[in-house]
Amino acid sequence: MRSRLLPYGRQSITEEDIQAVVDVLRSDWLTTGPKVEEFEEAFAAWIGAKYAVSFSSGTAALHGAAFAAGIGPGDEAVTTPLTFAATANCILYQGGTPVFADVRTDTLNIDPERVAERVTSRTKALLPVDYAGHPADLASILEIAERNGLTVIEDACHALGAEYRGRRVGSISHMTVFSFHPVKHLTTGEGGMVTTNDPKFAETLRKFRNHGISSSARDRQREGQWHYEMVLLGFNYRLPDVACALGLQQLASLNANVARRRAIAARYSAALREMIAVIVPTVAEDVLPAWHLYPIRLDCSRLSVGRAEIFRALRAENIGVNVHYVPVHLHPCYRDRFGYKGGEFPNAESAYESLISLPMFHGMTDDDIADVISAVEKVTQHYAA
Ligand SMILES: Cc1ncc(COP(=O)(O)O)c(C=O)c1O
Repeated sequence: MRSRLLPYGRQSITEEDIQAVVDVLRSDWLTTGPKVEEFEEAFAAWIGAKYAVSFSSGTAALHGAAFAAGIGPGDEAVTTPLTFAATANCILYQGGTPVFADVRTDTLNIDPERVAERVTSRTKALLPVDYAGHPADLASILEIAERNGLTVIEDACHALGAEYRGRRVGSISHMTVFSFHPVKHLTTGEGGMVTTNDPKFAETLRKFRNHGISSSARDRQREGQWHYEMVLLGFNYRLPDVACALGLQQLASLNANVARRRAIAARYSAALREMIAVIVPTVAEDVLPAWHLYPIRLDCSRLSVGRAEIFRALRAENIGVNVHYVPVHLHPCYRDRFGYKGGEFPNAESAYESLISLPMFHGMTDDDIADVISAVEKVTQHYAA
């Protein structure tokens, strides 16, 4: 058994990262300064998108995208129940109604057939999530969007560096949202980004994250101007220079970090697929996942106990397992507001009953990986039916 808890996710910070932040602390700009543009331009180039607009979190970035897509009171947007609540919440922030479509049983991504059934004359947008870092079925979702005149906001908060049909996610959907929370592939502490190829979306996103004001304080200083106009109701969702300096520096390790996560996933899958009670994540042929999470499913028919006992036993082995996610419609806030009772989205609900996320972060050592594999083997054998 490990002597210390292995967390399910964790940031890696280099000396160069620390120096980049210290340099900004000594500069003239702590918030919107030169590092914001530098980070956005470098990020857009890395993704292969025309524009990248930074936000103070992935959640704020989702809110910005929901605003830019024109979601408002009376509108609906279709999303997956198997996600972090923020994906659906951004629709509520705009006064719209989240409409859930069940997931596929293999990748656990939103099922395009179910999406098509949920589209009505009130639908404004589709919000697929690249669950665990595995891109959703984007071609089918974009096809539904095109047929119905909808905007696709891809929640790629798990999927920085993932590839779909040979292209990095971030320039495929109309807008793509990323998160820079510490457990992600790149961190700025808190932070997020929207990438898009559409200049109108980019312009709206920039205003929205800055109170709806059409210029930044730095632009005004540069131009010797005091006058500004607030042209729409926005928020203060700016990502400060200190955070952007960290993000910019972290980009230097991003290729290596994504590659390391793929190597960890390959080792996990090779070992775990041999275990009777463990179902490893499915990978579609046309994608390269980015592996934010490594969620296994338990075959409880081969175990004498349920998921909760296996979870507790792995924690007792100091393996920091987690569960992603309680389906959004089952949270009290959604039950109270929309009357969900459970049973509405059987694939998401039954996946939830058997899911366990194993530790997955690029700083894991080979010994850490071996510890996880042997703990899963020990626990599932101990509780074999
Ligand atoms: C799928 C998904 N969407 C949105 C978010 C929100 O991102 P943030 O924590 O940066 O606000 C997360 C956070 O983990 C997430 O997993």
